[in-house]
Amino acid sequence: MAHAELTLPEGAAADWTVPQDWAAYTPDEHAMWDRLFERQAAMLPGRVVPEFLDGLDILRMTKPGIPDFAELSERLMKRTGWQVVAVPGLVPDRVFFEHLANRRFVAGRFIRKPEQIDYLQEPDIFHDVFGHVPLLTHPAFADYMQAYGEGGLRADHMGAIDHLARLYWYTVEFGLMRRGDDLRLYGAGIVSSFGESVFALDDASPNRIGFDLERLMRTEYRIDDYQQSYFVIDSFEDLLRRTSDVDFGPIYRALEGASDLAPDAVLAEDRVYHRGTQDHARAKMAC
Ligand SMILES: [Fe+2]
Repeated sequence: MAHAELTLPEGAAADWTVPQDWAAYTPDEHAMWDRLFERQAAMLPGRVVPEFLDGLDILRMTKPGIPDFAELSERLMKRTGWQVVAVPGLVPDRVFFEHLANRRFVAGRFIRKPEQIDYLQEPDIFHDVFGHVPLLTHPAFADYMQAYGEGGLRADHMGAIDHLARLYWYTVEFGLMRRGDDLRLYGAGIVSSFGESVFALDDASPNRIGFDLERLMRTEYRIDDYQQSYFVIDSFEDLLRRTSDVDFGPIYRALEGASDLAPDAVLAEDRVYHRGTQDHARAKMAC
């Protein structure tokens, strides 16, 4: 993810990238990747969209150890023209959008410590690579990510980054997809999290609401806990259509005059798959 007020770290290129330096990972760091990978790989079949599991296979991410970005990029490039590049940490919004617009996914290169296995503040390589990269093998999702980067550069000019960031949050990070009568996971923030992979699908607490671009860009989100609402798309092709054949300018102008919606809001016009009890959020607030 991106951040606005940062200065270029020493040793980084002008586009904020650094070498991954794969040879520098220790056996403990590779073992941490394997531990996280095995836990998610055992739990996700039947819960995640099958395109995600296909992506793991296509990229041969089932191979033990932290993936080498050069190998991932070579396979991705053949498939959808994407690459994975390393950055030292958070990057400014504009840099993030530029990379996406040019089909480069920026990933952190550090891995969490054992005591951070279930929670860490900054995204690490497991979140960035396991969570985000497999779906870049899917043509419509790959196009959506590029279009998001291009849209980000335009939103930057229009002062609308905060609204656009909610689109990324509620799709790329925390999106669900309808599959027949079932819902499946695809957001990277969910699929890289053991707890949220269960909560987002099975728990009665959160709302699950059909995707609507304008509604979603009005909705605040939680950065400190599981989401109070998840938004459900029909397919990646549909998501791409609903966002790339759209002029965001009039929407941003309309949003400027509209009030924000709380993370747990449910509107009369929402297509509600599940109306949440919000018990989880209430219990947390009581602590
Ligand atoms: Fe992410």
